[in-house]
Amino acid sequence: MDIEVGIGDIGKTRADTILLGIFDNVKKTSGDLGGIDKSLKGEITKLIKQGEIKGKLSEITVIHSLGNNPAGRVAIIGLGKSEELTPDKIRIAIADACRALRKKGAKQIDITLMGVGVNEITAQSSAQAIVEGALLGLYTFNQHKTKKSEQGEIERLVIIIPNSKEKSEVQRGVSNGQILAEATNMARDMVNEPSNYMTPTVMAEEAKRVATKYKLEIQVFERKQMQELGMGALLGVAQGSQQPPKFIVLKYQGRDTKTIDIALVGKGITFDSGGISLKPSEDMGDMKGDMAGGAAVIAAIGAIAQFKPKVNVMAIVGATENLPSGTALKPADVLTAMNGKTIEIITTDAEGRLTLADALGYANKQGAKQIIDVATLTGACEVALGNITTGAFTNNQELIDKVIVAGNEVGDKMWQLPMFDEYKELNKSDVADLKNSGGRKGGAITAALFLGEFAEKNPWVHLDIAGTSSLDKPQGYYIKGATGVPTRTLIKLVLSLEKTEVKRNES
Ligand code: BES
Ligand code: MN
Ligand code: ZN
Repeated sequence: MDIEVGIGDIGKTRADTILLGIFDNVKKTSGDLGGIDKSLKGEITKLIKQGEIKGKLSEITVIHSLGNNPAGRVAIIGLGKSEELTPDKIRIAIADACRALRKKGAKQIDITLMGVGVNEITAQSSAQAIVEGALLGLYTFNQHKTKKSEQGEIERLVIIIPNSKEKSEVQRGVSNGQILAEATNMARDMVNEPSNYMTPTVMAEEAKRVATKYKLEIQVFERKQMQELGMGALLGVAQGSQQPPKFIVLKYQGRDTKTIDIALVGKGITFDSGGISLKPSEDMGDMKGDMAGGAAVIAAIGAIAQFKPKVNVMAIVGATENLPSGTALKPADVLTAMNGKTIEIITTDAEGRLTLADALGYANKQGAKQIIDVATLTGACEVALGNITTGAFTNNQELIDKVIVAGNEVGDKMWQLPMFDEYKELNKSDVADLKNSGGRKGGAITAALFLGEFAEKNPWVHLDIAGTSSLDKPQGYYIKGATGVPTRTLIKLVLSLEKTEVKRNES
């Protein structure tokens, strides 16, 4: 979809559809809406009076202009109560509106900025929210359909502003929104791709594409190099699969020092059958998305490179399948992770924490000053928080506060869960330093505590996206299937680090 900024009068454009916002409980039209209403002989006011247009968030009304207005139809989207308007509500309303209009065959939508001046919303932030809402909400995954769907695509979105005064500001909002949404959609593409297409090798190729496009350093370690590095936990998971594992490291150099200011570590299980501790077959296919954390960090570092913050960032993904076979890892086996800690396997289905143990170990060995890991880690987290909220864990309150603030800004909801020492008991093994499952109770917490053993003293945040990485029905700008969460949060977070520094944990 082409996105442009145009200068002029929304009442004069010849687009097939124009889209304007309306607040809850507005009785009289004014401004642009007032002009359009007049051209439509007061039809909008009539619909308000009749109660069809109430202005509730995402309520959409489409009026055919029957030649009374140069545009084919006038669409009005509810924005809810003006005092409650946020950029996130604009994103949601625009996503819902664009999807509804696509269904009606709209090809070009001309739109006005919404909410400028309300609750500190600027022309730039409004434009950015509109673009994010449209690009995220209209996302589709048709990769494997041989026939084009009957539903056409919206080809052009034009943001109409009255004069050139704010043009550069609006343009900046548009390009920021494009970078954020396109990165998210790239992560979604990777997650939606079935595992026979998105193998560890393909994931590494995807990372190489990002590296070439945005001039990032990249290293991809093969099994042999992983052995040399002592990644026994990751290799333990990989040993059951015919697909060679890949350890992917991307580097963005934003300032002239060797310091790695932050490492973004993503779980990269391209298919999780559970291994020898085989999962039930119902819904097992969902586990093609068990590399959503990895996809998010690869997509995020590509976007970060476009924003060029003065922050050095490393993205790390240990990619492998988790499958049963004659060579597969077995319950009661013991593995040694890169940092020397030994792990007793209770269930081969708790594989994510094994691969992350070595990815975190690698981040530490590289001297990363802070670490965020993102993983579809536990069904327990999905049970606790459902599909709306990502579980967040930390050993550093200052860092997690920043992550949650970044999440709130972009609309990725997060909630901190505890990591009290008392739970550590559950991860103790009789035969090794740790066991890879603490049992059903507090499953998201014991998984986080397990990872904490490999993050060691570094300021670290763990995001469990098991519930939020994909949805079974659309919700605003999150569509059915992969959400791309928390790609935009990671980008925002790194941009915010440019201005601040996190205090190290006491050692
Ligand atoms: N990939 C799964 C977690 C998951 C569940 C992600 C649902 C997305 C949706 C993970 O590897 C897993 O199998 N976790 C187990 C751990 C348990 C065996 C300790 C789980 O949560 O059941
Ligand atoms: Mn598993
Ligand atoms: Zn898994």
